[in-house]
Amino acid sequence: MRIWTNAKLATLSAARSDLGAIEGGAIVEDSGRIVFAGPASDAPTVTNAETVDCEGRWITPGFIDCHTHLVYAGSRAREFEMRLQGATYEEIAESGGGIRSTMLATRKASEEQLVEDALPRLDALLAEGVTTIEIKSGYGLDVEHELKQLRAARTLGERRDVEIRTTLLAAHTLPPEFDGRPDDFIDLVCNQIIPEAASAGLVDAVDAFCESIGFTREQTERVFEAARSAGLPVKLHAEQLSNSHGAQLAAKYGALSADHLEYLDEDGVRAMAQAGTAAVILPGAFYFLRDTKLPPFDLLRKHRVPMAIATDCNPGTSPLTSVLLAMNMAATLFRLTVKECLKGVTCNAAAALGMAHKVGSLEVGKQCDLAIWDIESPAELVYNIGLNKLHQRVRGGR
Ligand code: NIG
Ligand code: FE
Repeated sequence: MRIWTNAKLATLSAARSDLGAIEGGAIVEDSGRIVFAGPASDAPTVTNAETVDCEGRWITPGFIDCHTHLVYAGSRAREFEMRLQGATYEEIAESGGGIRSTMLATRKASEEQLVEDALPRLDALLAEGVTTIEIKSGYGLDVEHELKQLRAARTLGERRDVEIRTTLLAAHTLPPEFDGRPDDFIDLVCNQIIPEAASAGLVDAVDAFCESIGFTREQTERVFEAARSAGLPVKLHAEQLSNSHGAQLAAKYGALSADHLEYLDEDGVRAMAQAGTAAVILPGAFYFLRDTKLPPFDLLRKHRVPMAIATDCNPGTSPLTSVLLAMNMAATLFRLTVKECLKGVTCNAAAALGMAHKVGSLEVGKQCDLAIWDIESPAELVYNIGLNKLHQRVRGGR
């Protein structure tokens, strides 16, 4: 057992509309779980517990990065330079670069190489108090290499003390061997990649890229049907570059989340609200693509769709390994409030992963994943650009 005393808590319970701040707070942990979080005066008296004096520091739940493509090989710095000279992301993708160039590098890399390449990115996130990370495949695009990518992602959870959730994103782009035959590729995704990845126990959810340069609604729906047959929940890259009405489709399949959402309309928002689908906002990609179309935040608020914020860490549209910076961007570029930013990387991010019962808030029964900060107020976590005030990261009480 362990007790953290003399702390200020931002409990971030999903049920509350505020941060759930408690000054003079304490947390009691037993067997990796929170058994008390509240005012120190109400804490149970426990003997034989190790006491940690937080000296007035703030404690938040460990942060959750609920949308990343952390495992890949190679770099796309050259494409970044092309975009600086005026080429668009779509143009680069259509001329065989983009996701396909990362696919080539990822197919070539060994599983161990993928792990080694991803570790510095993972470590950057952990250094900011991240305790749960979602990692997508999507740069293998065939059975062998999608499974290799998922195994590498799971291995990261053995090399570091972090909870990893893996998402199969085989329907990310069309690999060159299927040029002109997208429906045949979707057959492969549905009949082989999803069932094999699922039976190997390597997948927690299935995602797709529903977009003019990705897959159609019909193709995406087939992927969702295959996920359903494999007993896996779905998520979707939706309305990033155009309104393909992917959000409605995601909602129809009870998706955990729809992500990006720059071109989302009110019908899509309504459908998400009804299905309980979270909105994952990715300001890093918005910034890096120098986007100008804002996701419809007022509609998301009006219909009470929970908003999560993630790095989208990937080599093409968001080479971002900072959740703190993602929050700052969400506030500065999207005008999200401090409270929305913090909920976005804690309780709402947990919801976007279907993990709300387990992580994302300082509440009894949750895993004791904490971030302890040297700050005067929670706003500092969103305000600083490039300054990391983490004092300590605690995972499962350790
Ligand atoms: O989340 N939109 C599709 N997938 C990624 C980008 C992948 C890439 O360009 O490598 C995204 O933005
Ligand atoms: Fe993404």
